[in-house]
Amino acid sequence: MGEFTILGICGSLRKGSYNRMLLNAAKGLSPGGVTLDEVKIDELPLFNADLESNLPQSVKYLKAKIKAADAILFISPEYNYSIPGVLKNAIDWASRPYPDNSWAGKPVAIMGVSGGMLGTARMQYHLRQVFVFLDMHPVNKPEVMVGMAAQKFDKDGKLTDETARKLTAQLLENLVTWAKKIR
Ligand SMILES: Cc1cc2nc3c(=O)[nH]c(=O)nc-3n(C[C@H](O)[C@H](O)[C@H](O)COP(=O)(O)O)c2cc1C
Repeated sequence: MGEFTILGICGSLRKGSYNRMLLNAAKGLSPGGVTLDEVKIDELPLFNADLESNLPQSVKYLKAKIKAADAILFISPEYNYSIPGVLKNAIDWASRPYPDNSWAGKPVAIMGVSGGMLGTARMQYHLRQVFVFLDMHPVNKPEVMVGMAAQKFDKDGKLTDETARKLTAQLLENLVTWAKKIR
């Protein structure tokens, strides 16, 4: 266990996800004394306000992991120019039941990988808008938008692109510095 815990959440559920490959690369690029753990969102039911009075176990688990973390890292694809439904579902669940918003006050960073050129830029700006209502505190720079996924990883899923590796390491360092500053 490091002294500082970042909770990673991946917006893609598929086995061969490039975004999970980036999350795994980030684990090896974290500063010393920092643990980056992933919490899976596969088991969450679709959000239904009728379930809020008796929260599903998977939601309780997610909320506890968020509360215990020093900072949050979203790593997500862009779907139809926005946030994938599975990720938005997880965000909505952990923001409830009102007023128990588990995201409130958390420092947060975003990264993303896409098959096309723009590297999830549109999804990232939509997430930043959502952070306003969640009362999360995003790191602004660097923006880690990894386009042309097929050219950035080798056949074993290792991130081989030097620029992406450098930006990822810098973002994680900035996230830790930012979190300590606003603590
Ligand atoms: C439903 C759907 C919508 C998509 N929309 C976009 C998009 O708006 N912009 C984009 O760059 N790529 C889009 N893609 C392509 C993704 O960038 C690509 O599938 C990527 O590999 C998904 O991330 P993953 O490998 O982590 O699953 C879309 C893919 C799917 C399945």
